[in-house]
Amino acid sequence: MIIKHDIENRDDVQLLVDTFYDKVKQNEKIGYIFNDIAKVNWDKHLPVMYNFWENILFFTGSYNGNPMAVHGHIHRLANFTAEHFDEWLRLFTSTVHELFEGEKAELAKQRAISIATVMKIKFVHGHTPIGMTKN
Ligand code: HEM
Repeated sequence: MIIKHDIENRDDVQLLVDTFYDKVKQNEKIGYIFNDIAKVNWDKHLPVMYNFWENILFFTGSYNGNPMAVHGHIHRLANFTAEHFDEWLRLFTSTVHELFEGEKAELAKQRAISIATVMKIKFVHGHTPIGMTKN
């Protein structure tokens, strides 16, 4: 039996992010957005995502980008649907669940749900959520 532990450090964050994007790349519903539309440079994108999640979970100050602006650009090319966000979230949540257990694991899932929900409201439904500026 595998005993799961919590997300404790950057190595754990890297394992989470690497495992998640391995699934994303091969996923029939959203993989093409990364592979064919955005043509993601993974050597650059993965370290950005380590910083992003490390900052969310451990408040390291390691990320100061603007995900809404980046996804706004991708949305204009890919036309995001609710199904895209649902699939992204399903993959992320199942990856966290498969690898980790604990407070930080719960926090990661919660933050993913709230950010994906804000993106869905903004891009799919065309509204600006309260507290967000238009861009
Ligand atoms: C439909 C779902 C989603 C798709 C298809 C998607 C796709 C992408 C793509 C193509 C990039 C650009 C990668 C690059 O070339 O640099 C990106 C960046 C990023 N995504 Fe997503 N994304 C989705 C949802 C999310 C969600 C829910 C989150 C947060 C929980 C997120 C967080 C990020 C972050 C932090 C970046 C990096 C932005 C930067 O460069 O600073 N994405 N995403």
